[in-house]
Amino acid sequence: MEKSFYITTPIYYPSGKFHIGTAYTEVLADSIKRYKKLRGYNAYMLTGLDEHGQKIQQVAISKGLTPKEHVDQMAEDAKKLWELMDIQYDDFIRTTDERHEKAVEKIVNKFIENGDIYKGEYEGWYCMPCETYFTESQLVDGKCPDCGREVKRMTEESYFFNMKKYQDRLIKFYEENPGFIQPEFRRNEIFGNFIKPGLEDLCISRTTFDWGIKMPNDPKHVLYVWVDALTNYITALGYMSDDDTLFKKYWPADLQIVGKDIIRFHGIYWPIFLMALGIELPKEIYAHGYIVMKDGKMSKSKGNVVYPEMLIERYGLDATKYYLLRNMTFGQDTLFTPEDFVELFNSDLANDLGNLLNRTIGMINKYFGGIITPADDSNNVIDTDLRNFTNEQIEKVEEFLDTYHISNGLAQIWTIISRTNKYIDETMPWTLAKEENKERLAEVMFNLAENLRKVAVLIAPFLPQTSEKIFLQLGITDSNLKTWDSLKNKKIEANTKIIEKGEPLFIRLDKDEEIEYIRTHMK
Ligand code: ME8
Ligand code: MG
Repeated sequence: MEKSFYITTPIYYPSGKFHIGTAYTEVLADSIKRYKKLRGYNAYMLTGLDEHGQKIQQVAISKGLTPKEHVDQMAEDAKKLWELMDIQYDDFIRTTDERHEKAVEKIVNKFIENGDIYKGEYEGWYCMPCETYFTESQLVDGKCPDCGREVKRMTEESYFFNMKKYQDRLIKFYEENPGFIQPEFRRNEIFGNFIKPGLEDLCISRTTFDWGIKMPNDPKHVLYVWVDALTNYITALGYMSDDDTLFKKYWPADLQIVGKDIIRFHGIYWPIFLMALGIELPKEIYAHGYIVMKDGKMSKSKGNVVYPEMLIERYGLDATKYYLLRNMTFGQDTLFTPEDFVELFNSDLANDLGNLLNRTIGMINKYFGGIITPADDSNNVIDTDLRNFTNEQIEKVEEFLDTYHISNGLAQIWTIISRTNKYIDETMPWTLAKEENKERLAEVMFNLAENLRKVAVLIAPFLPQTSEKIFLQLGITDSNLKTWDSLKNKKIEANTKIIEKGEPLFIRLDKDEEIEYIRTHMK
């Protein structure tokens, strides 16, 4: 049977233009999906928008639009951006989709039937932009602990979800599934600080606005946006409408990617909702860190927001993706600076990878009229060392990628690139040419071409355009030489004609000029 892999992203609030933070989450999910596909999985990726709630209603009003007009526009913008970024999602869910709203009503009815929901009175400090109530002790200097803005004391008649009922089961689940939340420090944080000390019941309805899904039989209550939002991961698969097709095939999710800001919702409420529905929990939830700027969070008021379109237009999609994926280490925040962007472009892309391809193509043309001649594995100690090193690195790349440590995986791929550049210095092809040692020279050229082919396979999930360009320049069209398995059991077999003059993959940037460009194009 084919192995399936279901990966999800958060569904974003359509409240403003999407910046590189959101773009990072999409790129990460898309890359992992592509990697899994390359490894033979039937991978399925879900993304979408979280369109209900007071904040969205307010944004729409401020633009003179109805909420529906506003979210329709935003959904188009999102899809346009994901198309520009070549994100290969399989489904795009909007919480205003009828399929979703209908299923959510059924889900809530099921909660009611189970006795998970009761009516009570809620009083607390409410942060409107975050749509979250806080207790007195959670406030920071009397302000919202998440965004730092004013909070309002509010009381309302509300429905509550009985979280306490599931507390023991959740603790047991966490203990039995230590890898459920990644990275581990986040898991410990949630488990130790929130779950162990005891859960509060969750207020799940609001009467202060009406842009949302109504409570069944009590329409003045609108469902709290997180109940509506979290369930998207199953309603999109047809849960409660067509349980036997996608839902059966893909649930439980293999990987749910979220930012660290929303790990609490995904680590506590989400598993409990699923327990209440009697369905399996996702296998893993991974919380990545935040992209932050020197002066803190990206915000329009600070004028420090970086939009993906700007980077893509000037430096290309793959360079933008490389920066995002390489710079963000597992679960940690990363600082965006124009200096780092330009530096990484020049060193890793233009120098290491670009030059390796350029030198190799140049030499094969110069010495062999553009023909790669296959050679057997030689016993030359330099070759053996290159081969062993490359194979060891490939193992490590797999380990990292299989645990979603994408930045480490890329770093490991780049050690192969550096090692291959060093191979040129070790073998000194120009000397071999002078000595007219054609046999050895051909062997060296073959080893270079082979390693570049492997690099093209390894980077395919992350930098698909660059990968294709390398295959093209090497004259490799046989799809059997592009598979992951080919890293271990195939090599270029027939004489292959490379292209005569390869376009450089990445042209070195003028450091000062481009740093200035990026800096002045933040908004
Ligand atoms: O929270 N760095 O939506 P949201 C990295 N609708 N990632 C970032 C980022 C940054 N600076 N800023 C945003 C919501 N993100 C809810 C989700 S899911 C059922 C409901 C990414 O628009 C990151 O993935 O606030 C974060 O978790 C998400 O955008 C929050 O998006
Ligand atoms: Mg947010």
